Amino acid sequence: MTESVGKIIGRTLHGGDVVTLIGELGAGKTTLVHGIVMGLGAPSDSVASPTFMLMHQYSGRLALTHMDLYRLRTPEEAESIGLSECFTENDATVIEWADRFPCLLPEDRLEVRLAHKTFTTRTAQLIPRGARSHALLARMKKAMGHIRKRGRSPQPRLQTRRKASSR
Ligand SMILES: Nc1ncnc2c1ncn2[C@@H]1O[C@H](COP(=O)(O)OP(=O)(O)OP(=O)(O)O)[C@@H](O)[C@H]1O
Ligand SMILES: [Mg+2]
Repeated sequence: MTESVGKIIGRTLHGGDVVTLIGELGAGKTTLVHGIVMGLGAPSDSVASPTFMLMHQYSGRLALTHMDLYRLRTPEEAESIGLSECFTENDATVIEWADRFPCLLPEDRLEVRLAHKTFTTRTAQLIPRGARSHALLARMKKAMGHIRKRGRSPQPRLQTRRKASSR
């Protein structure tokens, strides 16, 4: 499920889109990034949980910057590795552990909340936080409709919330 959601995001991302991933250890954040990179048509074998890496760039249909904020302790540290410079009009960005420094994130982002349901299953909640991310979610739903019509199954069911409470 996690990778399939990622693939749909990767197929429908536009330059400038920001996807933020929130979820406990092992919730599937890196797995989702793997799917996004596949959906972008970039080589996905280098996608790893960036325990030793804070930032990685992939080049497919679009350039994608992948960041992991887990090991960073202060907003200053996040700034020093160039977090705010990632948000450009041309490139897409995906951020693991985005809830570490919400003040450094663009307001308009597609927030993906991943959680363990059982040991072997996960839930994903998608929360668009502005016009750009609403448009991304709409493209994802349309893409899923096309896939269903072509009879490819099983497909993930997206759990979405129109308006999220503030942090
Ligand atoms: N939908 C799913 N169903 C079952 N297992 C899954 C699912 N999604 C991810 N996993 C598995 O969960 C494990 C942890 O996944 P992953 O590394 O993507 O988590 P993470 O959220 O990035 O963890 P971390 O917080 O350590 O970075 C992996 O073995 C992965 O294959
Ligand atoms: Mg990870």
